[in-house]
Amino acid sequence: MKQEGFGKMNACQDVHDVLMKKFQEKFGRAPDVVAYAPGRVEILGNHTDYNEGYVLSAAINFGTYFAVARREGPASRLVAGDVMEEVAFEADNPQPSKDRMWSNYVKGVLSGLNAIQKPAHGFDAMFLGNIPLGSGLSSSAALEVSSGFAFARLYGLSVGNLEMAKIGQRAEHDFAGVKCGLLDQFSSINGKKDCLVWSDFRTYDVKTEKLGEDVCFLMCNTNARHALVDGAYNERRQRCEQGAAFFASVLDHPVSALRDVSWAEWLDYKDEMDEITAKRCAHPIGEDERVLSGIDMLRNGNLKGFGRLMFESHDSSRNYFENSCPELDTIVDAAQATPGVLGARLSGGGFGGSVVVLVDKEQVASVETTLRNAYAHRHGSRCDTRVITCSDGARIVKG
Ligand code: GLA
Repeated sequence: MKQEGFGKMNACQDVHDVLMKKFQEKFGRAPDVVAYAPGRVEILGNHTDYNEGYVLSAAINFGTYFAVARREGPASRLVAGDVMEEVAFEADNPQPSKDRMWSNYVKGVLSGLNAIQKPAHGFDAMFLGNIPLGSGLSSSAALEVSSGFAFARLYGLSVGNLEMAKIGQRAEHDFAGVKCGLLDQFSSINGKKDCLVWSDFRTYDVKTEKLGEDVCFLMCNTNARHALVDGAYNERRQRCEQGAAFFASVLDHPVSALRDVSWAEWLDYKDEMDEITAKRCAHPIGEDERVLSGIDMLRNGNLKGFGRLMFESHDSSRNYFENSCPELDTIVDAAQATPGVLGARLSGGGFGGSVVVLVDKEQVASVETTLRNAYAHRHGSRCDTRVITCSDGARIVKG
């Protein structure tokens, strides 16, 4: 899967049509089932999902199509449609691959579905998408969810949305080695056109909130490396869990995750913790409070205030969680000084990837130029920008 930048095959319809053609050429027939799943953008609530907290996110207008046809016997073929790399294995025994890492997302999902019911036959499958890899827009979740929807339909399984999201998450944990939360899969499944998705990762409650009509999101992909799989993400998660255990031992109310700790409590106890753990905990605790304030501001049409929360969120990433990097900071700093920008922050795991910018719709073209120039001036390379539309979630498009 090698999609560079935002440039190639922008429209989802083009991606779908190219995939149908390639599938026919490769397998000599049309697929029985085709599913689509979008990527996601995270707007507020960074690293809160695995701390049982709140997130505001959206499914985006970029995603992945997964096409599959039934095949007799267990032998199965899976093809990455952009590079036409193929992996062969038995549908009832998917094992993690060491060299074709992309296949692990699909194999992991299949393994989760196999636990519900052993597959009665094999398949030929191919997928294609237009989410740039490593951009922090969850190309992996889009692949997990699209393959999950397609396989569930092919094998006649009825799988609920929460269960499907958890199957995708398990694939990340067990087949790709990233101890992620549920945000990416949840957003890809629960997205709604023109709306933000408000998720509560303790109750798994999902609500949608309208975004004002005068604003839109601009994504700026720094093309800097997204180092999730290198363990930085897992290390942050561990720190948060250590922090929660500390608060459980000192507070006089139950704490099962950082969700249960308020900012005032953090201030009271931070000096009794080791410095790094205290800093790491400050981030999700502050983010939970920002999501709740952000919802009120959205409902009151206070987009200026909402944008300010996005800048505060980035500061917290930069100073407390240390999951930003110079490339992301360049864009956020430039955004802060650009007319027409209401807010900006990193989106997703961090350590590279994309910045999401909340922009006055009428000024989006000039904001785009300013941010691109600022980035090129500072780093001598290009950042890709794209207007993002909040979109509907995953669906079956054929079968
Ligand atoms: C990645 C993970 C998510 C979430 C975000 C940070 O996208 O996959 O589960 O933790 O980082 O908010």
